[in-house]
Amino acid sequence: MTNNRDKAYQLSSQDFKFVCDYVYDAAGIVLGESKREMLYRRLSRVIRERDLSSFTEYCQILRKHPEREQTYFINAVTTNLTSFYREKHHFEYLQNYEFPKLLTQNLASKRVRIWSSASSTGEEPYSLAITTYEAFKSLLSQWDVKILATDIDSNVIATAKAGVYDKTRIEGIPGQIRKRFFQQGTGNNRDKFKVVSSARDLITFKTLNLLHEWPMKGPFDVIFCRNVLIYFDKETQLYLFERYYNMLKPGGLLMLGHSESLGAFQPYFENVGRTIFRKPV
Ligand SMILES: C[S@@+](CC[C@H](N)C(=O)[O-])C[C@H]1O[C@@H](n2cnc3c(N)ncnc32)[C@H](O)[C@@H]1O
Repeated sequence: MTNNRDKAYQLSSQDFKFVCDYVYDAAGIVLGESKREMLYRRLSRVIRERDLSSFTEYCQILRKHPEREQTYFINAVTTNLTSFYREKHHFEYLQNYEFPKLLTQNLASKRVRIWSSASSTGEEPYSLAITTYEAFKSLLSQWDVKILATDIDSNVIATAKAGVYDKTRIEGIPGQIRKRFFQQGTGNNRDKFKVVSSARDLITFKTLNLLHEWPMKGPFDVIFCRNVLIYFDKETQLYLFERYYNMLKPGGLLMLGHSESLGAFQPYFENVGRTIFRKPV
């Protein structure tokens, strides 16, 4: 139990339950008692920003205008932690194995489609774009390669689209790649680095709730669904695995996050590497 006595606002059990139900219905995200502190911090910020007096007042607004308030609210409660080349082995697998294979396998169509399905602030799709450049090299201009990057949070999609990162965010990227794919700002922006347009142009950024209808046709050669399923319950995970399966080409790859697994959907995929799953041909 959280002790709310010393806090600026009181989060009653009733309001906490209402907010948890709202997040679950809107985004599929399960918030239990262990997330109470996190929710308290994030919603306190919203209450201050909106100049409200209590959580109860905010809950009343959410009840009255569920649709209008949804984007702002969901943006406030999502966890967007990410980094360039997070879980490096996925990018190594693509560069060393999958992309060379696709260069032969897809030669007739010269088409490759990749989806970063919870892309957060863009580090994941940009790492994919750079890996694509590194693998396809000069052939890339003759191929139709596209990366789709989506997330439920419209703020992170705006950041991703801008493609500008603080120096500290790109420090772990090897020097050669940093020089080729990031342009340093000037004057007061010397600590900012913008992804070069050749890499940005490979990516289309869109807001998309994974629980809603998916407007794209696919099929995809590779889908990244990393570190988002952990926020969902088993039922939602299974529902999404089936949809990912249908969106993949036969032989296509599904990449999950380090603590995620296919659970009961495992028999439908072949496990070809650490959290790397292939839809059988
Ligand atoms: C922890 S980040 C993971 C980012 C990246 N995939 C990675 O592994 O580094 C999780 C992302 O999932 C997004 N998300 C949560 N629920 C979602 C939903 N229902 N539909 C789409 N994106 C969602 C969040 O907004 C957040 O940006």
